[in-house]
Amino acid sequence: MLCISVKEFLFWKKKQLSKGGDYQSFAFLLDSIGGISPSDLNLLTINSEDNLYLKKNLEHLESIWENYLFTSTPIQYLCGVVFWRDLKLRITEKVLIPRSETELVIDIVLKIFEKKSQKLFFADLGTGSGAISIALALEFPMWEGIATDIDHDSLEVARRNYVSSTKQSNLKFCCGNWWTPLESYKGKLDLVISNPPYIPKDTYEKLPKEVKKFEPKIALIGGDDGLEHIREIIQKAPFYLRKKGWLILENHFDQAEKVKELLIKNKFTSVEIVNDLSGIGRFTIGRYK
Ligand SMILES: C[S@@+](CC[C@H](N)C(=O)[O-])C[C@H]1O[C@@H](n2cnc3c(N)ncnc32)[C@H](O)[C@@H]1O
Repeated sequence: MLCISVKEFLFWKKKQLSKGGDYQSFAFLLDSIGGISPSDLNLLTINSEDNLYLKKNLEHLESIWENYLFTSTPIQYLCGVVFWRDLKLRITEKVLIPRSETELVIDIVLKIFEKKSQKLFFADLGTGSGAISIALALEFPMWEGIATDIDHDSLEVARRNYVSSTKQSNLKFCCGNWWTPLESYKGKLDLVISNPPYIPKDTYEKLPKEVKKFEPKIALIGGDDGLEHIREIIQKAPFYLRKKGWLILENHFDQAEKVKELLIKNKFTSVEIVNDLSGIGRFTIGRYK
């Protein structure tokens, strides 16, 4: 820990922000690397004679900030960290930055499975940084889970995040194309969640340059209509889910009705669209018969 005066810190902060960039990203840098939380930051006043403690020196923080300003690399990649629900996950440019709207998927699961004492078997397909599967494994220590991804590097990031989050051993990691790593679990899964790549090809081309340049393409594009992966996941789900097992999918803002139709066509019941906090039909859920 490095001790500096609040006054010196606030002058430095003003200078950094005058170079450009958004306050939210700057606050993220201070929180994740400097060890100054947003609430600590709000309490600092220029008249204070106090000192504060930083995890890294100002030069180090400044070099990350300038890198952010000059390269437009998302601040989460530069800091190598993301806060997701109550987890602090390490990330690299090999994985998608887990989005805050995805956090709601854990609340959907909590609403469906109120009793935490049940023993259930779940899978998270396309786990990326491991956000969904790790949050579920921690929330439901009695459950056994499998997190899969087609990308070895992503799976390694997820595995490391799991190990550093808990001493539990209720989550396994398997590499492969959607259901392929789950061959030996056919008919055994009580719950499968996936936030697959669902952006239509044309829409991808119009995404902000920070997304296109830095986030992995494989995590974003879902073929011409965006539904290529969702279709594959839904069509094969009946072989892997237990009777009455749940499938929860995240989809693009305008895909929920189409995903609902696909679920119904594949004999799912209790099919429902769940809105995110902005009122967008972000998740589609159903049970296999
Ligand atoms: C939108 S990201 C979601 C990551 C993470 N679950 C989250 O919510 O932040 C989609 C993930 O699916 C993986 N993926 C893409 N194609 C896949 C495939 N054919 N089989 C398995 N995983 C795949 C990507 O590598 C990526 O990690």
